[in-house]
Amino acid sequence: MAEFKVERQGEVEIWTIDGESRRNAISRAMLGELEALVERVSMGRHVRSVVLTGAGEKAFCAGADLKERSTMTEEEVRAFLESLRRTFRALERSDCVFVAAINGVAFGGGTELALSCDLRVAAPHAELGLTEVKLGIIPGGGGTQRLCRLVGAGRAKDLILSGRRVSAAEALALGLVERVAPEGRLLQSAIELAEAIAQNAPLAVAAAKHAIDEGLGLPLDQALEIEQQSYQLTLKTEDRLEGLRAFHEKRPPRFVGR
Ligand code: COA
Repeated sequence: MAEFKVERQGEVEIWTIDGESRRNAISRAMLGELEALVERVSMGRHVRSVVLTGAGEKAFCAGADLKERSTMTEEEVRAFLESLRRTFRALERSDCVFVAAINGVAFGGGTELALSCDLRVAAPHAELGLTEVKLGIIPGGGGTQRLCRLVGAGRAKDLILSGRRVSAAEALALGLVERVAPEGRLLQSAIELAEAIAQNAPLAVAAAKHAIDEGLGLPLDQALEIEQQSYQLTLKTEDRLEGLRAFHEKRPPRFVGR
């Protein structure tokens, strides 16, 4: 059975985790399918942004599938975590832009999945949390590192060491999500954001995404070097010339991704 429902809207794909009865928890099958989906959009050029969401209104993703986990050996848990880290990193490294539409609770690996996306839009009733210490473990899908980079070490410790759950409003105030959508308009809001990104020159969007991600944490001079190298990539593109032509001709640009 497919673990995701995949739909297309123009240049945007919408991936819905199709596991409402287990609150869209991350099973081995779901993770394998996610990795294959990320690989497909990263190899091709026809999808510029992806909205990632969960089925139903209760959960975006309730983290690792704890029922499956209880049947797994220590070795199998290790292999699962390896695959989780690899998949989340592939998502981050992709030229495609990922927007998490957080339609309900996102706990543990669910919050880590959202953290691996480029942008996060939450429904007003969404709740997020890295709750792992309550289960005797720690975040294993990059949560300790990505949360710090997004909101700062102090706030990350507040959330990770307490394991507490935060509302969408608090997540917005902390910088853990970038937007809270109006009631009933989550998917629409996330798609509009993904479409607005997809309208822009794809190579420029990818270069900007990587400049931000790779420069973070580097000393400023090295980070500025990364920006300069990323800019260089756009200088030779047809799309840069098309952007200038469209400006002179007072019309919207037609970007081709070259
Ligand atoms: N893995 C596997 N199954 C899960 C799950 C998970 N992480 N989270 C929920 N489910 C299952 C429940 O076992 C239940 O299955 P059942 O109908 O066979 O009993 C079903 O999803 C519905 O869960 P329920 O708790 O009744 O729904 P809810 O909407 O009231 O609450 C949650 C949903 C996610 C808030 C709650 O289930 C929860 O706290 N889950 C644990 C989340 C967690 O700790 N994740 C971190 C993992 S590191």
